Amino acid sequence: MKAAYINQTGAPDVITFGELPDPRPSRNQCLVKVAAVDVNPIDTYIRAGLIPAKLNFPAILGRDLAGTIVECGAGVKRFKVGERVWCTGQGTEGRQGTFAELAAVDERWLNPIPEGVCEEDIVALSLVGITAYLGLVIHSRLRSGETLFVNGGSGGVGSCVVQMAKILGARVISTAGTEEKVRLCRDLGADEVINYKTQDVVVSIKAFAPDGVNVWWETLREPDFERTIPLLSVRGRMIVMAGREARPVFPVGPFYVKDCSLHGFAMFNATVREQRSAANTINRWASEGKLKARIDRIMPLSQAAEAHRLQEESTVRKTSLLAGKVVLKP
Ligand SMILES: NC(=O)c1ccc[n+]([C@@H]2O[C@H](COP(=O)([O-])OP(=O)(O)OC[C@H]3O[C@@H](n4cnc5c(N)ncnc54)[C@H](OP(=O)(O)O)[C@@H]3O)[C@@H](O)[C@H]2O)c1
Repeated sequence: MKAAYINQTGAPDVITFGELPDPRPSRNQCLVKVAAVDVNPIDTYIRAGLIPAKLNFPAILGRDLAGTIVECGAGVKRFKVGERVWCTGQGTEGRQGTFAELAAVDERWLNPIPEGVCEEDIVALSLVGITAYLGLVIHSRLRSGETLFVNGGSGGVGSCVVQMAKILGARVISTAGTEEKVRLCRDLGADEVINYKTQDVVVSIKAFAPDGVNVWWETLREPDFERTIPLLSVRGRMIVMAGREARPVFPVGPFYVKDCSLHGFAMFNATVREQRSAANTINRWASEGKLKARIDRIMPLSQAAEAHRLQEESTVRKTSLLAGKVVLKP
């Protein structure tokens, strides 16, 4: 099969697109003919060797996939040949990645693709959708009628946070860096969108939420607590989920006197059961047309190195050239 893989960590040009042996499904695995994969910022950290990932070289890249089952191991109970499935959680901890024509995936990771939802859309909602769900429902416990602010409403995670927070009944305010992305956030359902390059973000948030923001979702890798904490409501919750190197100043006084709480999380720590519960809800919302994928572009899998370059450029070097996900097709 054709696959995008690495024999060592490094810059995007360590990625080879070439032939590897077809994987064989073990007892509890399904062999999936991959229709679509996507790029996440974490894929670029793994490829660059910046975070531990227990890779077996040649290591196929990629966390998420959507495709069709072509073979089932003898112990597989939940799925059969011909079913369309999606998953995240691959390409790490000794598991091979998804950037290939075929992938053997343990059935516990797989979710069905609902009728009427295409592979490109569900894969673009996979890791980021589960992240948004976990943060809103499990960690911050967002309630209907509350106010949510998300920094970066048109990004991979941000676009899911905006839509899910609206579905859960919140008033939503987000930021975006261009007028086009401001429109995008409004189309996703945000009630108010601030252009962080041309408008005063603090003044706009205070006008939208005079009593403070109930849930602040920070997608930036350098959170600014000095700016954020005064904008939280009493019992406000703040989510941080990016920036392993970040060591910001934390103003304790204005934080504890308002009973605020800080919630850090990484979606890969969620149990399979928690992830499946998130996936079921994502499936329902996607099939009802309430949750839409934010795809910036679709490229052939042969351009995996270029896709990694784009993601790194946009998220890590903060050029913001993407608005949502890069999807790749084998
Ligand atoms: N903890 C977890 O489980 C988890 C899961 C997924 C992702 N992450 C991490 O979360 C981060 C975001 O991931 P992503 O996939 O959403 O990345 P992304 O698609 O590149 O989104 C980044 C967002 O940041 C916004 N942004 C950049 N500079 C900004 C600024 N100065 N002010 C306000 N917004 C700004 C961008 O908005 P514009 O385009 O409008 O500039 C964009 O919406 C990454 O660091 C990733 O590694 C963590």
